[in-house]
Amino acid sequence: MTRAPGRVVVDTWPPRGHLRNPEDPKERPAPPMTYIVTDACVKCKFMDCIEVCPVDCFYEGENFLVIAPDECIDCGVCEPECPVDAIKPDTEDEPDGKWLIINAEYAKVWPNITVKGTPPADGEQFERETGKFEKYFSEKPGKGS
Ligand code: SF4
Ligand code: F3S
Repeated sequence: MTRAPGRVVVDTWPPRGHLRNPEDPKERPAPPMTYIVTDACVKCKFMDCIEVCPVDCFYEGENFLVIAPDECIDCGVCEPECPVDAIKPDTEDEPDGKWLIINAEYAKVWPNITVKGTPPADGEQFERETGKFEKYFSEKPGKGS
């Protein structure tokens, strides 16, 4: 492994040296950060994001996708793939953690999606609209793939 001068390279998470008893779950620090899918995805669902995820942690609803926060490795490669900028790091969530909760809850009940399907024919009509979750969100699962 090449080490940049002056940088500490952490090979494990959590950094084992920070814990008194690494085997004790209560000793673990907060989980690593995640990316989240937000309002802009609703009704657009372009699915370019799933093609690049190295751990296949996207889950499909009828008109929205979510990321499973406990599976996401925070690599960030999906963020620039979304044509409507719907994917954000959770540091850019609403103050009440709205999108993290939505992503976590629906990832538990919707099917996993790993192959890009056909985006909605009218998706482009909704690209610039805001507040779509409240207006159009469907709790129904997608087909998954
Ligand atoms: Fe997948 Fe990486 Fe995006 Fe997380 S940040 S959903 S691991 S591509
Ligand atoms: Fe949604 Fe963007 Fe992916 S619109 S399905 S987050 S590419």
